[in-house]
Amino acid sequence: MHPLIASSRLPELLRAMPKAELHMHIEGSLEPELIFAMAQRNAVPLAYPTVEALRGAYVFNNLQSFLDIYHEGTLVLKTEQDFYEMTCAYLARARADNVLHTEIFFDTQTHTNHGLDAETVINGLHRACEEAPARYGMSASLILCFLRHLSEQEAFESLEQALPLRDKIVGIGLASGEVGNPPEKFARVFDRARALGFRLVAHAGEEAPPAYIWSALDALKVERIDHGVQATHDSILMQRLARERVPLTVCPLSNVKLKVFPSLERHNLRQMLDAGIVATVNSDDPAYFGGYINENFSRSFAALGMDSQHAYQLAKNSFEVSFLDAAAKRRYLDQLDGVFEEFAALN
Ligand code: ADE
Ligand code: ZN
Repeated sequence: MHPLIASSRLPELLRAMPKAELHMHIEGSLEPELIFAMAQRNAVPLAYPTVEALRGAYVFNNLQSFLDIYHEGTLVLKTEQDFYEMTCAYLARARADNVLHTEIFFDTQTHTNHGLDAETVINGLHRACEEAPARYGMSASLILCFLRHLSEQEAFESLEQALPLRDKIVGIGLASGEVGNPPEKFARVFDRARALGFRLVAHAGEEAPPAYIWSALDALKVERIDHGVQATHDSILMQRLARERVPLTVCPLSNVKLKVFPSLERHNLRQMLDAGIVATVNSDDPAYFGGYINENFSRSFAALGMDSQHAYQLAKNSFEVSFLDAAAKRRYLDQLDGVFEEFAALN
């Protein structure tokens, strides 16, 4: 346990502390400026005349209203170089927030449905991840998310297409419109992914009720729950999440933008941590939701009155529940301790 660091130095601590990001959709990191640059070079028409007009359209009522605009943005991605550049831009931005490790979500189906090959997507993303240690001083890996509004059969096809590139992907996830597409729809394809040795995660309890979190755990047997914020409506589930140390990758700014919570002050992140749940803080779709990971940290801490012990817990959780090996986790946790010790020495 580190000594409490003065609240006046908390904003600086939140920025400086090493952290891992475990819930970030790479297509959701595509900034309007990059959308316009890629649209121009790939001759893709856009529905908005300027960067400002596009950014101005980023007002959402719920998850689906966001997914519609997010999908428009993905239409500019055509070449392996586009996927590479999009990923490099995110890695550079994340490293500026002291993200030392990231596990990046991507949706192959979005792009194969636009006529691209899975290899174009995965090779572009992977080249950026492979270069991340030398270029940015960080590590990065990839998690392929099935789109849950599509069929089980299509998820199987997406998995098969990725198999020749198996070594470039650490895990499988489940994203897109949640309500009406429960985890159990994908139980068999998650069984197959598990048999192939993939690590497993799923979005659950973002908008849909706690039953979706139960079935992500029991039918899909995932190791982490993405979002999971609806869990606080089910006290038995809360006890299970705490007892089994099931990690939740929470995305506070996303939840406010998509109206899961009316304001950050009403977010349950602090309640989760105080209940002993292994939560982490993440940016989800940072180009759309008003901030990268440090903005999620600083605004949540200000809104919820959290302190340096919450900060340490969140950063520690992020490395511990990552899919890194034990030695890499240890190295990052030592770096984290080093930063907290430096701040404590100046207290
Ligand atoms: N795809 C991108 N962002 C998402 C989110 N917040 N929930 C579900 N699917 C997504
Ligand atoms: Zn997400």
